[in-house]
Amino acid sequence: MRSASKEISEPVVTAAPEAEAPDPAVLTDAGWHAEGDPYAVWSWMRRHSPVHHHPAGDLPAFWSLTRYADVRAAYRDPATFSSRQGVLLRPSDQGVDPGGGMTLALTDPPRHKQLRAVVADWFTTRAVREIEAAIHTAVRGSLEQVRTAPVVDFVHDIAGRVSMYLIGSLMGVPERDHESLFRWTNEAFEAGVSLAAHQDLMRYFIAMMEQRLAEPTDDLVSALLGGTVEDELLTEEEVLLNCENIVGATENGRLAIAGGMAAFLDHPDQWRRLGADRSLLPSAVEEVLRWTSSATHSMRTATRDCEVGGRRIAAGDRVVLWVPSANRDEDVFTAPDSFDIARSPNRHLALGIGEHFCLGATLARAQMRILYGELLDRTDRIEAAGPAHPVRSIAVAGPETLPIRLVYR
Ligand code: HEM
Repeated sequence: MRSASKEISEPVVTAAPEAEAPDPAVLTDAGWHAEGDPYAVWSWMRRHSPVHHHPAGDLPAFWSLTRYADVRAAYRDPATFSSRQGVLLRPSDQGVDPGGGMTLALTDPPRHKQLRAVVADWFTTRAVREIEAAIHTAVRGSLEQVRTAPVVDFVHDIAGRVSMYLIGSLMGVPERDHESLFRWTNEAFEAGVSLAAHQDLMRYFIAMMEQRLAEPTDDLVSALLGGTVEDELLTEEEVLLNCENIVGATENGRLAIAGGMAAFLDHPDQWRRLGADRSLLPSAVEEVLRWTSSATHSMRTATRDCEVGGRRIAAGDRVVLWVPSANRDEDVFTAPDSFDIARSPNRHLALGIGEHFCLGATLARAQMRILYGELLDRTDRIEAAGPAHPVRSIAVAGPETLPIRLVYR
């Protein structure tokens, strides 16, 4: 990794001769996302083919959008760019996403707004402020659990545990079951299958649903069960799939938190800077979000013929918004390849924008702020304790394992 200070001093190259044009087809290769350099390809595409057509292969044909302005505009136009057929590229033989029209992520307006209203109260700034104490408890608990371990896997032992503890609490999962929830989501994640395919997890949520139907309480599952859209109660299938959607989305939280830690290990000057000035925590979190861009792509399906960047997109075409590329667009960000925790402005798109803006945004931000703050309070320094392994995925990015050593005060 290059250091931030070196990158800051490097001029932004706008029209250097390209040694060799990369092949945008590599963007469909999960192994290549993990081991190659997708940023180099996106950089080339932003300059030379910002609205790029990929022919069908294992994946169906799709368009790639790589410029910030195009990605932002597509996110903000759900009437033209629908989420209903799925928001992630899926192999052609798997067909369209079965959750279409049922989960928050896969619903279009006007239904989407009503569905979101069923759960939105749990994720507002005020709601998250009310559970700040619980976030501190979750963070301290996870750090206590690894206090004597010589080497800690930051992804599994800290970021994952904190993320799952919080979402489990909101959903009403009793604390004694958090470890199981954590294990099942990890297993689904490691096997690269959707959470819905995980029978133990689904059985657990079905049992929980039956309990809450008999005896509703003040939790997210009860809210979904009592929720109405277009004057009709959600079906049990819709409740289940939305639970899956929300639990599954926390994977992004863990990847961003852990990706941020990896960025700080690569840029120790920025960690020291944060330690010396905690008022930088909010902007540091935004920079971690931009830098890690852990949700790699969002897909949409065009509902009508339209034009983007001079290319004709036909009704029914799939359009892929590459978020990390938008977040390094040199037309929007000064020195986009520098990790700068004081960056301002920083209008990244890591959490999406518009109708489907990340439901868990405030929660994810608070979690990061509190966890990094607590680590700075407790440790003299944090060291890498072995190689980190990246996830192999075209949908999410970040470390799958990140061995570290915490050197306490
Ligand atoms: C830093 C971590 C996170 C990142 C980078 C992230 C990223 C995103 C992005 C890019 C979207 C928009 C997807 C689209 O438009 O197709 C989104 C939506 C969503 N996120 Fe997050 N997310 C994070 C954390 C969370 C957490 C912790 C939760 C759990 C509560 C969550 C729940 C959701 C849900 C339910 C949606 C769908 C919202 C809707 O369609 O209305 N996210 N997220």
